[in-house]
Amino acid sequence: MELSANAQALSYLISAILFILALKGLTHPASARRGNFFGMVGMALAIGATLLGSEVQNYGWILTGVLGGALIGIFIALRIQMTAMPQLVAALHSFVGLAAVLVAMGTFLNRSAENTLNAVLMGELSAGIIIGAITFTGSVIAFGKLQGLISGKPVRFSGQHVLNALIALITLALGVHFALSGSSWSLVLMTLLALLLGITLIIPIGGADMPVIISMLNSYSGWAAAATGFTLGNPLLIIVGALVGFSGAILSYIMCRAMNRSILNVVFGGFGSEGGESAGAQAAERGIRSASVEDVVYWIEDANLVIIVPGYGMAVAQAQHALKEMMDLLEARGVTVKFAIHPVAGRMPGHMNVLLAEADIPYDRVYEMDEINPSFAMADVALVVGANDVVNPAAKEDPSSPIYGMPILEAGKAKQVYFLKRSMRPGYSGVDNLLFYQENTSLVFGDAKETIEGIVAALKGTGH
Ligand code: TAP
Repeated sequence: MELSANAQALSYLISAILFILALKGLTHPASARRGNFFGMVGMALAIGATLLGSEVQNYGWILTGVLGGALIGIFIALRIQMTAMPQLVAALHSFVGLAAVLVAMGTFLNRSAENTLNAVLMGELSAGIIIGAITFTGSVIAFGKLQGLISGKPVRFSGQHVLNALIALITLALGVHFALSGSSWSLVLMTLLALLLGITLIIPIGGADMPVIISMLNSYSGWAAAATGFTLGNPLLIIVGALVGFSGAILSYIMCRAMNRSILNVVFGGFGSEGGESAGAQAAERGIRSASVEDVVYWIEDANLVIIVPGYGMAVAQAQHALKEMMDLLEARGVTVKFAIHPVAGRMPGHMNVLLAEADIPYDRVYEMDEINPSFAMADVALVVGANDVVNPAAKEDPSSPIYGMPILEAGKAKQVYFLKRSMRPGYSGVDNLLFYQENTSLVFGDAKETIEGIVAALKGTGH
């Protein structure tokens, strides 16, 4: 069966609408499942309509690729830890970038053999290759940093920005030269320099800024796909590429706003994990209060309002199910329990929301930063479960701190603050947490899940 051009165009249109509905659904946890479903149907329709199109002559290689890719995808999806999701996203972006480069190269070889190259097409090829190559190596570096294969610290040297600007200018000039002349040398040099640029652009960026970078690379991968769409004359790929390109750019903007920084500051500023261990060591010397499970239970069992601040450590400990059980026990005693989510809590946007939803914690107990901040002053207890940077008052009080200016959850305003963490180590940014030293703060050392399970057992033991 071969699809007519009109039927294919109609299928593409329906797919594009489904993708837009998917994005709309993904804007809220309650509709995210439906959004995902729309996305899956849209993608199945898009792939089906493309495979049945007249330009596909031979299914052998395509099916091998689809089957191989699907098997690898299923294997990875089943095995991946939630905490490793950002690296996986980075790795997937790198594939999009590489695919854009390879498609452009393949098109160049085919079309030059047919002698059907023209300046417009070669301009598209240049754009696809440059954006694709930067996305590819940039994502590989981001993957390496997040996976701990490369240091997460910002790698800086003098003249870095000038060097990057120079590489970018030469790459663009080669792109224009290639579009006008079709010179293979320009093509090869342009590709190599764009690959280099992906490395030199991302390597200086500190680990704490990686979420923004991942989302920026997501945006690039969208533009690379859109450029490929132009090359292949595929309107759906152009639409999808633009959707991904814009949504990644908007997400980067939202994340920068959540940290009170500009995208230029993220790309050129760089803060990272400097001095992490020594900050922890200093903290131990400066004396902080530690508390036991019983102390926490004493405060929360008869409280009016308990606000839980989950962070990356909750994901590591997988403490969300124990938290749900604790929430149920407290609510049965008439305690109001709320969850406070910082926009960059955890290691990727929506990380905490996904875990809380997995544990069936109702959405109406989950509050965003601006909604919940005024409530901390009324809370009896703020229970900070494996979170650190997102409640660090240094972001407001210490202009010399690398996280100065980042809006925070004002957990310190609660009557009592309990941190559930394993050690004195600082959070992702490596910055010492001033809240540890506040008079109403205590640290409950241990794995968050074990501590919460201890609280649950104690609450059951003292249940009325
Ligand atoms: P962090 O500041 O990274 O703090 C996490 C805390 O969890 C650590 O202090 C760690 O202390 C504790 N922890 C780790 N494993 C634990 C366990 N099993 N049980 C109990 N505690 C455990 O996390 P956050 O407050 O969620 O802040 C997020 C940070 O990551 C921000 O700096 C943000 O910029 C950055 N970041 C965010 C994203 C996105 S988009 N969300 C992506 C990448 C980076 P111990 O080691 O002492 O236990």
